[in-house]
Amino acid sequence: MGSHFSYTCQARCCVTKARAGVFHTPHGVVETPRFMPVGTLANVKTVTPAQLRGTGAQMVLANTYHLHLQPGEDLVAEAGGLHRFMGWDGPMLTDSGGFQVFSLSEMRQISDEGVTFRSPRDGKIIQITPERSIQIQNALGADVIMAFDECPPHPATWDEVKRATDRTMRWLERCFVAHTRTDQALFPIVQGGVYPDLRQEAAEAIAQYEAFGYAIGGVSVGEPPELIEKIVQVTAPLLPEDKPRYLMGVGTHKEMVRAIAAGVDLFDCVIPTRLARHGAALVQGDRWNLKNNRFRRDFTPLDDTCPCYTCQNFTRAYISHLLHAREILAFTLISIHNITELVRFTQRIREAILGDRFAVEFAEWLGHG
Ligand code: GUN
Ligand code: ZN
Repeated sequence: MGSHFSYTCQARCCVTKARAGVFHTPHGVVETPRFMPVGTLANVKTVTPAQLRGTGAQMVLANTYHLHLQPGEDLVAEAGGLHRFMGWDGPMLTDSGGFQVFSLSEMRQISDEGVTFRSPRDGKIIQITPERSIQIQNALGADVIMAFDECPPHPATWDEVKRATDRTMRWLERCFVAHTRTDQALFPIVQGGVYPDLRQEAAEAIAQYEAFGYAIGGVSVGEPPELIEKIVQVTAPLLPEDKPRYLMGVGTHKEMVRAIAAGVDLFDCVIPTRLARHGAALVQGDRWNLKNNRFRRDFTPLDDTCPCYTCQNFTRAYISHLLHAREILAFTLISIHNITELVRFTQRIREAILGDRFAVEFAEWLGHG
């Protein structure tokens, strides 16, 4: 292992644990902190790679679970890997699959060996083990691949979470043994639910593994926001300081600011694209339903401070019209804006950290009330 990946810290906030840095991957850099859009099935829904580039997104996610079911990792490998297959030449990350099995498929069973479930496509029984997940992710070829983990639901008892966290640790060992490509970075994932002692134990155990980055999982599974913040505050500082830290599945403004203040660098969330498909835009920290009648004759952009393609070229009235007429372009335009909004928010935080203004400029977001 060597020179394919590195993280450089460029600046630290002197009040909080926030930092700005650069994560180097074989397909380019990711300037952190940064939001990453989700492209589950090798596409960010309704957005082309060129449009995605225009949002300022640098790294994109895809999912092992979905791509294994369809079209299959062999086909993606035959196409030359995920980057070539989907026409995105920037950094990519794949999630490991276990989390998606649990949230999306029926008849799932979990054992020390792995997870077994029925394919929602054809009813076939499928097993994903840590080894299998890594094999699939090696075939898909993203720059960053994730350890196969068990994310306990919320609420769950201490004993239940302890069992899942211990199993995740045993699986991590198997993931590292199975991982063969040196041009892919395998990120371990900290579980531990809402229990600080389990989080601490898991973070310390995971930090023993030499990796190019570390993730915090098992949050945003239904627990209240204050708890998310607490969990991140106890977990993030225990992860190696000289590597990027990734908080999985989190992407609201407030959660990101607070996690960044605790030392987190990377985020992903389906919110911007999912909201778009419901006709909702992220504007000035709020969610606006663009089907609302008040936008019908509103000939201003979604957000007149936004540099995105949508805001530079279209009005609220036009997007409202597209939604009422059920035109698919509405989803594309809102997705472009929503992704830009979240990426730009993390870019603004990054610039504030670089200029040593983060704690002051984002005081209201960080506000303890
Ligand atoms: N996405 C959001 N949360 C999680 C998690 O805990 N584990 C994995 N693998 N993916 C996630
Ligand atoms: Zn915009």
